[in-house]
Amino acid sequence: MTTGTGTRSTGTGTSTGKGSRRAGRSRAPRVVLLLAVGAVVVAFGPHPEGSLPSEELGDHGAMAMDAQRDRVRELLPQRDVTLPPPEVDAELWEFLVPGDNAMNAERVALGEALYFDVRLSRDGTVACATCHDVSRGFTDQRPVSEGAGGALGRRNAPTTMNAFFYQSLFLDGRVPSLESQAGFPPINSVEGGHPDRASVIAAIADDPKLQQMFRAAYGSEPNYEDMERAIAAYERTLVFMDSPLDAFLAGQSDAISDSAKRGWALYNGKARCVGCHQIFTSNSIGTDNLFHNIGVAARTQNFEQLADQALEALREGGGAEAVDELALKTNLSELGRFLVTKDRADIGAFKTQGIRNVGVTAPYMHDGSMRTLWDVMDHYNKGGEANPFLDGGIEPLALSEQEIDDVVALLFSMTDRRFAEQNQAELEQQRTIAAERRPFRDEALAMRRTLPFEQRVMGGGSAGASAEEGSE
Ligand code: HEC
Ligand code: HEC
Repeated sequence: MTTGTGTRSTGTGTSTGKGSRRAGRSRAPRVVLLLAVGAVVVAFGPHPEGSLPSEELGDHGAMAMDAQRDRVRELLPQRDVTLPPPEVDAELWEFLVPGDNAMNAERVALGEALYFDVRLSRDGTVACATCHDVSRGFTDQRPVSEGAGGALGRRNAPTTMNAFFYQSLFLDGRVPSLESQAGFPPINSVEGGHPDRASVIAAIADDPKLQQMFRAAYGSEPNYEDMERAIAAYERTLVFMDSPLDAFLAGQSDAISDSAKRGWALYNGKARCVGCHQIFTSNSIGTDNLFHNIGVAARTQNFEQLADQALEALREGGGAEAVDELALKTNLSELGRFLVTKDRADIGAFKTQGIRNVGVTAPYMHDGSMRTLWDVMDHYNKGGEANPFLDGGIEPLALSEQEIDDVVALLFSMTDRRFAEQNQAELEQQRTIAAERRPFRDEALAMRRTLPFEQRVMGGGSAGASAEEGSE
């Protein structure tokens, strides 16, 4: 009954229900397991799946698909999707929506159906919404994602909330649009796991309801390009920009705490966040849409060696799908933007992530290595992890503990109000965790009592210290 190969032949009928029936059977043991590891999860675990009522729990710890779809419908206002969302500048909107994929209700409806459809994976357990789950801030709240067959990737799932603002997608910007992005997960071997595009379409093509929706949306039979378009159209409805900070910036002076107000001044001043995460009308989510090595990847990698390996690997066929596999499956992932441009200046550089809703999308950074926003602040405060490719905008900040707390308060004020409760719960959990461990804190570096190169020379050394001589 269940297809393990993804080469479903025509005539087997629809299968939407299979994934959920199977999920139903595995529910009880999963809950027991969750209870068993509950103590650990409560203490430090990345995701709150244990808090979902069991009838809402689906595969891979995600909320069940139907429950998620309904939750999103409740969250989003009823509106005419052919018009720009009220939160987004109309001219900017014009620029963000591709001419050949104008928004309309039929396209959004098809995209919604597909976003929550587990048939986009080989084993019928993984949809977009598994890793971009409404109950977990449209992420999976894991350090790295888990795909079909339980395969683990190398990267942290960013949120799909407001993702339509980005000028390039993925953490290394390897694709230019939401449309092209949507085609990769179903056929990536650690995500959807389908062997090819035909297999994805074969899995959905017989569904009369989807056939009808494709016709209504694009006048076509189920096909890959229109699947990508529809999913992108749906993602363009995921606008979540109504935060206390927005109210404050609009003039409501009591919308955020005094601590968050001090944080805002630091953000735009001493803490230098604004250098890359500017927030203004044409840049509403706080990204410069550029790529920087901020010394996250540097912790564990010998960049020089990795770069050579990558060039070798890409010589054997370096198309977009090859890069997608290297980024998600191998330790070359840490090279970041370099995999796309092969430019040495891009070694270890990643896209500046948006800054909104970070209160509900932990853990952080491309590798999910930072559990709390205090970790993120400790990282920036010490000037990142030293490496030869470190961005010039990253240097020790000499922030005091109070100042760190203030910026963290600010960051938690950037979460959309529809997630206020979740945001508050996460703030308290992070505060508890941070009180016990601050693995990235280094006072001596942050306050410039030691300089990074001194630490490299004196204390154990680190990879790549000898770089820079002779570029090829
Ligand atoms: C197995 C988990 C998984 C599944 C399934 C999955 N994603 Fe993702 N998604 C990720 C990860 C991990 C990344 C980051 C990968 C990278 O940058 O290299 C990502 C990145 C993205 C991005 C880019 C966001 C940004 O900030 O650049 C978008 C948009 C997105 N996914 C949408 C989708 C859609 C649409 C689907 C379904 C067709 C989907 N994802 C399926 C895990 C997943
Ligand atoms: C030189 C540019 C630069 C500066 C300055 C900078 N950032 Fe970032 N920020 C980035 C990049 C690039 C990433 C993505 C890194 C990655 O994924 O590994 C990022 C990621 C983040 C993330 C993680 C987002 C997520 O969802 O995982 C947070 C939070 C963040 N920055 C906050 C800040 C704050 C607060 C400041 C100021 C103290 C700051 N940044 C300063 C470039 C910068």
